[in-house]
Amino acid sequence: MGGNSLFSRAVQFNSALQFEALPRPPVWIMRQAGRYLTEYNEVKAKHSFLEICRTPELAVQVSLQPIHYLNVDAAIIFSDILIPVVALGIEVDFNPGPIIKNPIRTGADLASLKRIGEVTTQTAFLPKAISSLKNELRSLPGDPKALLGFAGAPWTMACYIIEQKPFKHFERTQIVAREERAQLHRLLELLTSITEEYLLAQVEAGADAIQLFDTWAGNLSLADYREFALPYTQRIFATLEKRGVPTILYINGCTPLLPGMIESGAKVLSLDWRIDLEQALRLIPSEIAVQGNLDPTLLYGTPESVKQQTELMLRAVNKRPGYIANLGHGILQTTPRENALSFVKTVQAGWP
Ligand code: CP3
Repeated sequence: MGGNSLFSRAVQFNSALQFEALPRPPVWIMRQAGRYLTEYNEVKAKHSFLEICRTPELAVQVSLQPIHYLNVDAAIIFSDILIPVVALGIEVDFNPGPIIKNPIRTGADLASLKRIGEVTTQTAFLPKAISSLKNELRSLPGDPKALLGFAGAPWTMACYIIEQKPFKHFERTQIVAREERAQLHRLLELLTSITEEYLLAQVEAGADAIQLFDTWAGNLSLADYREFALPYTQRIFATLEKRGVPTILYINGCTPLLPGMIESGAKVLSLDWRIDLEQALRLIPSEIAVQGNLDPTLLYGTPESVKQQTELMLRAVNKRPGYIANLGHGILQTTPRENALSFVKTVQAGWP
């Protein structure tokens, strides 16, 4: 059903090879299923985060919570960017952020990494959850909802699986890039190939679009982005393009990397809040759609202040076709839920 959802219409070209002009933009929220929702915390009280990810009924239940509460235009399957690394024998737990049980510490650790088994077998719960979520979304009344699949980009996954201590800002992965350059590329290659298979399985199961989270690429200079992140992202998007599935690229701290992101092959660029939206829209070619970029901390305050800030964001878009409303990063855990609702309702009320 995602094919004629507002989301899908916003990212497809019309017969004039332009994005369709829509009465209002579609809207969803990064991390829309999570701890700011009491109904999520109720599920979390009974099941661990990993159990929710690995049990299709629970993953579907939690993915639907923001659809029911916020009536957003897209559902994103509940999972995590570190789920597929099991295919490299890397064990992950969450508390609440990812904890790698066997992190990469040395060049020898890097050299010994290899694929152990099939990622699609090891994460078979995910496409199961996606096809079941697809059925649930189809049975909902009202406008059709799009279903988004996702993965972490290789660079960002590498930031988590390379041990950072005592570093706090993932500098360790950049240091490894200097000291063990060839070995790091080998790891990025491995991560790229498992991610391609992992995402294709999500598309087969019914994902209408795929978002690639390269959250920590914002640490890289443009030159390093072009060496350590862009080629792998391009490969993943080229593989998805063959299936005709729209792709979204998110980077936190994207401003200096925009020239690279534009070359990534992504159909949609998801911007963080630091970049001025009007300025970004001038820099991004009209054949690439844009998603974002309200500062998540603006969802504090009152429903009225959220409405005003959201209208400011929408005015900056100036009805540009090929636009999806969202935040500039994931919604924060302590966000008042009624403010999240005010954000969504303001977008759904139409262009201000
Ligand atoms: O958007 C959604 O609703 C889908 C679910 C989703 C989660 N993680 C659930 C989650 C998605 C899309 C992600 C992506 C993800 N995971 C990213 C990229 C997006 C971003 O925020 O930059 C990253 C970097 C991760 C790694 C990760 N997983 C972190 C840093 C954390 C801790 C987060 C925190 O706020 O403390 C996690 C755990 C995690 N992933 C939680 C959720 C709901 C919290 C775990 C819990 O409920 O106990």
